[in-house]
Amino acid sequence: MKHFFSLFAMGMFLVLTGCLKQNTEEQWMNDPKILDLIQQMTLEEKMGQMHQISGFGGQVPDNLKQDIIDGKVGSILNEVDVKAINEIQRIALEESRLGIPVIIGRDVIHGFKTVFPIPLGQAATWNPELVKKGAEVAAKEAWSSGVNWTFAPMIDISRDARWGRIAESCGEDPFLTSVMGVAMVEGFQGDDLSADGSILACAKHFAGYGAAEGGRDYNTTLIPENELRNVYLKSFHAAQQAGVGTFMSGFNDLNGVPATGNRFLLRKVLRDEWNFDGFVVSDWASVTEMISHGFAADPKEAAYKAISAGVDMEMTSDSYKNHVKELIEEGKINERLLDEAVYRILKIKFDLGLFNDPYVQEEDQNRFALPEYLEAAKQAAVQSMVLLKNEQQILPFTSSINKVAVIGPMANQKYEQLGTWIFDGDSDLTITPLEALKSELGESKVLFSEGLKYTRSKDKTGFSEALATAKKADVVVVCVGEEAILSGEAHCRASLDLPGAQNELIEEVSKAGKPIVLVVMAGRPLAIGGVSKHAEAVLYAFHPGTMGGPALADLLLGVANPSAKLPVTFPKAAGQIPIYYNHKNTGRPVDPNAWTCIDDIPLNSYQTSLGNTSHYLDLGFAPLYPFGFGLSYTTFEYKNLKIETPKVKLGGDIIASVTLENTGNFVGEEVVQLYIRDLVGSVTRPVKELKGFERVQLKPGESKKVSFKINTSDLAFFNPEMEEVTEPGEFHLWIGGSSDTNLRTEFVVE
Ligand code: NOJ
Repeated sequence: MKHFFSLFAMGMFLVLTGCLKQNTEEQWMNDPKILDLIQQMTLEEKMGQMHQISGFGGQVPDNLKQDIIDGKVGSILNEVDVKAINEIQRIALEESRLGIPVIIGRDVIHGFKTVFPIPLGQAATWNPELVKKGAEVAAKEAWSSGVNWTFAPMIDISRDARWGRIAESCGEDPFLTSVMGVAMVEGFQGDDLSADGSILACAKHFAGYGAAEGGRDYNTTLIPENELRNVYLKSFHAAQQAGVGTFMSGFNDLNGVPATGNRFLLRKVLRDEWNFDGFVVSDWASVTEMISHGFAADPKEAAYKAISAGVDMEMTSDSYKNHVKELIEEGKINERLLDEAVYRILKIKFDLGLFNDPYVQEEDQNRFALPEYLEAAKQAAVQSMVLLKNEQQILPFTSSINKVAVIGPMANQKYEQLGTWIFDGDSDLTITPLEALKSELGESKVLFSEGLKYTRSKDKTGFSEALATAKKADVVVVCVGEEAILSGEAHCRASLDLPGAQNELIEEVSKAGKPIVLVVMAGRPLAIGGVSKHAEAVLYAFHPGTMGGPALADLLLGVANPSAKLPVTFPKAAGQIPIYYNHKNTGRPVDPNAWTCIDDIPLNSYQTSLGNTSHYLDLGFAPLYPFGFGLSYTTFEYKNLKIETPKVKLGGDIIASVTLENTGNFVGEEVVQLYIRDLVGSVTRPVKELKGFERVQLKPGESKKVSFKINTSDLAFFNPEMEEVTEPGEFHLWIGGSSDTNLRTEFVVE
């Protein structure tokens, strides 16, 4: 029987491949069992596989049941009820004609029940192992609830802090985002997609979505192809090479063509150049939204454009379901396109093992928030909090501190500190800074006054109590920031100031004259330059997740030492945006030592007397904090920068090293960063580009030689002809603890 099946399947394979003769891609459609299924499918069933619907909150209503029986549903998102999912899979396997399972998708972005720091915070760890662990934990928890597929990682390059979705990103740098994106893909998918605890990942949003004009979500993106390839596509290519199973097409229109109907992106780049063999899902209704974009006249045309471009599955809208048959009958699209899409989808369902066993245990009490998961979330939070300032070594607290005042609207907010995209996050698990400090120091040593009820509040009635509380303490920890809802999808801000009356609260509390530690929990870089003047220390915690409190307590009390580095440039004000470290030099770069501030301009100045260079009169050119910046309780010295390969042939390795010494009094971990600059190119090159980093732990007084090896292929970029080339010539190379390092050497590529 088995033998007969293989012969039959092989026969079908030949018939089908025969039908697909013109198709040069047919070699990849070579799995007989999938071809056999496709051969048996009606048009409606094929369209069903390409249709993703939203779940029914734990219910399996009759119409859903019937649709599954009829093979009209390929995937469901946003169903997380284990019983409902098992029932859906049972119906699909046992009652539908061909027994094809449904794939269950969910936005598991930075944790499921156990919430890790927001992705921007995770990127601040510069620790791919930890990030991978976070994705593994999220995958295990989600998998045990029946989820097969997460819509993560989000690897859009984000250079605009106003854009709410910067919270979900790994920041502004293509290299760091690639490393973190790959770590997440590996964590979610594991080595074997069919293994218990592995879920399918999705690289999103393809592509350019992060360049939304004005930082306003869903807005137009205009990115020249060269810039697109050199900056925005890199992380996606890295995810594809790491084996990510799916891609999501973006909401944005890119250079006038919506990403969801964009043949250049989805066919030329993704399929033809990269040979991506997974499937592409649209974003939520982004197929029919091409009508609002003015790119399709009606749902039928939208379906036509999305399918032709290469969107295999339509998320939530119905244009494929309602119009594809018609489009085929009219000869507008070839059924072969459907076969290809269905092949890709079925292949992933087989890879996930769903045909064998799509069920999960319903009574498993032991699947969420295991001690090991909470510990991983705590470590991620510890390593995600960036120490931006620590005057007079106020941190860590010493034993002479007897009373700590905890103040501010983010000090005790179980839900808000989790951040955006926590559909399933369990805020009962959260430990807040207030709770953690009380449990570490004892109730009597910790005083509390929130000052403001929530971050947007302008009601100052709590200020006097906050001030009185601060006066009673030796040190004041002020927890400010943004509630979770102020960042994430569609939650953009034109101002980067702390919302509500938080600036005034900090100012008020500073009147107590006690040292202040400012803790900022937010979904984006905030312009905290003004208020941080009132604080001796500043810890930027992003939204740190479930274990944010204990992580913060460990840092404040010196149980842990900060080691995070900024994954994104912090502007002084929104008006500096876009601001990113890897910018171009321009023809008239500013002289850092000679720019005139608006306040110092003499009256009646002659038009060119200030020098015509690229800067703002009121804010200069420098950011508040540069990319890669972050302090430690100890100090590190970089010396003996050496290039072992001052001349290197194309294809050769570049080897450089530095000696890192811990010159302070604490054991500490430093993220050592390597940057290069290609001095002359056929297209202008950034003033610095991150090409490597390594975390190094040193005891006080200890030093270590840290070596990097990169290849000349790592210097490649897309030239004006869109060829990826390394161009011979001179390069600068820096190694240091931030993108503004000036410890520099040179090499030449011959
Ligand atoms: C819209 C978002 O843009 C996307 O990131 C998300 O995965 C889908 N909705 C599904 O919720």
